[in-house]
Amino acid sequence: MRLTDLAHDYLSAQLKPGDRALDATAGNGHDTTYMAKLVGSTGHVIAIDIQAAAIAATRARLEAANCVAQAELLIADHAQALHSLCEHYAQTVSAITFNLGYLPGSDKSIQTEPESTLAALRAASELLKPNGLLLVTAYRGHDGGQTEAGIVANWMQKIESRGWSVDSHEPVVTGDRIPPILWVARKI
Ligand SMILES: C[S@@+](CC[C@H](N)C(=O)[O-])C[C@H]1O[C@@H](n2cnc3c(N)ncnc32)[C@H](O)[C@@H]1O
Repeated sequence: MRLTDLAHDYLSAQLKPGDRALDATAGNGHDTTYMAKLVGSTGHVIAIDIQAAAIAATRARLEAANCVAQAELLIADHAQALHSLCEHYAQTVSAITFNLGYLPGSDKSIQTEPESTLAALRAASELLKPNGLLLVTAYRGHDGGQTEAGIVANWMQKIESRGWSVDSHEPVVTGDRIPPILWVARKI
């Protein structure tokens, strides 16, 4: 099973109509739209991306799926945006997704970076409500990808030592390709 499908299975089991969910790396809007459908018209999905083109693609996908009304779209660095959102939404979010790397088919130099990813993850841990779900997929084949994934792995160990449950999934790949990794963390 592809990691994206596995992540969506976790989201399906977690999100209910009326819930609040957050996509910290909206990209082309696949995860945002999937979550917007699950939370329905009474729910709230916040999607963040640093690139205006990504937010435009996410809006178009939401419109095509007829669920833009429950979505709030922010062009911003996720570390800053999540920090600001803590003021109103701390402990209210049911699920948060991160897809680390660059937007496929666009400028590869605009990619998630360890420092802001770590700050965004810390803010995400405050935004989640108890039993909330944090999904982090890291692509590791590009420059800096393995370093970033290593920093996320250390942070996952820290939250696990504080009582969160943390699992990880890596597909088996052939040859020298470095597989992506999905962490599935649940807040206590
Ligand atoms: C792998 S893509 C996400 C794919 C997305 N989940 C989808 O469904 O298409 C990673 C995204 O992270 C965004 N990004 C990179 N650095 C960011 C940052 N500091 N804050 C917010 N978004 C960032 C990129 O612009 C890119 O769109």
